[in-house]
Amino acid sequence: MIRQRATAFAPASSSNLAVGFDILGHPVGPLGDRVTVVRRDGAGVLGVTGDGVPADPALNTATVGMMRMLDEVRPGFGVEVHVAKGIPLGSGVGGSAASAVAGVVAMNALLPEPLEARELFRYALAGEAVASGAAHGDNVAPSLFGGLVLVRSAEPADVVRLPVPPSLRCAVALPRMRLDTRTSRGVLPSSFPLPTVIEQTANLAGVVAGCCTGDLALVARSMNDVLVEPHRAALIPGFADVQGAARAAGALGCSISGGGPAIFAWCDGDEAAEATRGVMVAAFARHGIPAQGWVSRVDGPGARVEELS
Ligand code: HSE
Repeated sequence: MIRQRATAFAPASSSNLAVGFDILGHPVGPLGDRVTVVRRDGAGVLGVTGDGVPADPALNTATVGMMRMLDEVRPGFGVEVHVAKGIPLGSGVGGSAASAVAGVVAMNALLPEPLEARELFRYALAGEAVASGAAHGDNVAPSLFGGLVLVRSAEPADVVRLPVPPSLRCAVALPRMRLDTRTSRGVLPSSFPLPTVIEQTANLAGVVAGCCTGDLALVARSMNDVLVEPHRAALIPGFADVQGAARAAGALGCSISGGGPAIFAWCDGDEAAEATRGVMVAAFARHGIPAQGWVSRVDGPGARVEELS
């Protein structure tokens, strides 16, 4: 049966997670992007629409990966694309990755012989690179596959799904302001002192080991970003207060989500996560910044096809 139209949803995600700059991430609900592709006569991406997204398919994160996919697979038809952004631009919860992932997942559903999810990673990564200027997979991988993922290598892809202690939850506070990934990458130095690298590496190992063994006290001791957060914190008004409020409310760890301005906190259980979400939003409000907050599982699901006809 020839499919004419597919819509896919890809979730928002939190990346870096304090200790894994460019290599760790997990989905955060309920936000996400939806991409619809409609089969048309022709070849490639014939047009793209959507509020606030580039109309040039070569510049749109949702369509760049799809263009490469169509170029390589050559299915014998083209597509028109519509992007429905559920994730605000420049928010720090993987909006460009979600568009890229939803695009290739929807496109894949129209192919006569759909590719495996792990083959889609490479295409979605190309879309993400358009937005941030770097092909890091720490938002693409969780948005595509779901769960807590370690991107040991983006190219060639080596993505490892890590075990998640069952009570682990993530609270996210998203202030109403925009911070582009290029800006937050631009403030980072190109080299770091060796003792800082050693401390960050030990913290990363502690978080991963704590997740593998269910040792949340080890996760809490380890969840400190000594590498990136010190350089980015000043880009987010109220950051220290929001982080302090989360820690005082009992969060296991709290830092910048992706490139910011969203801030995430890992928590033990729903109750602690709800309380943490509330105090983070309130702390932003004390700085005069309206913020939204939500709580989700750390091992939440990745992208899915929602409609296919
Ligand atoms: N790891 C990336 C960064 C995520 O922090 O720059 C943002 O896209």
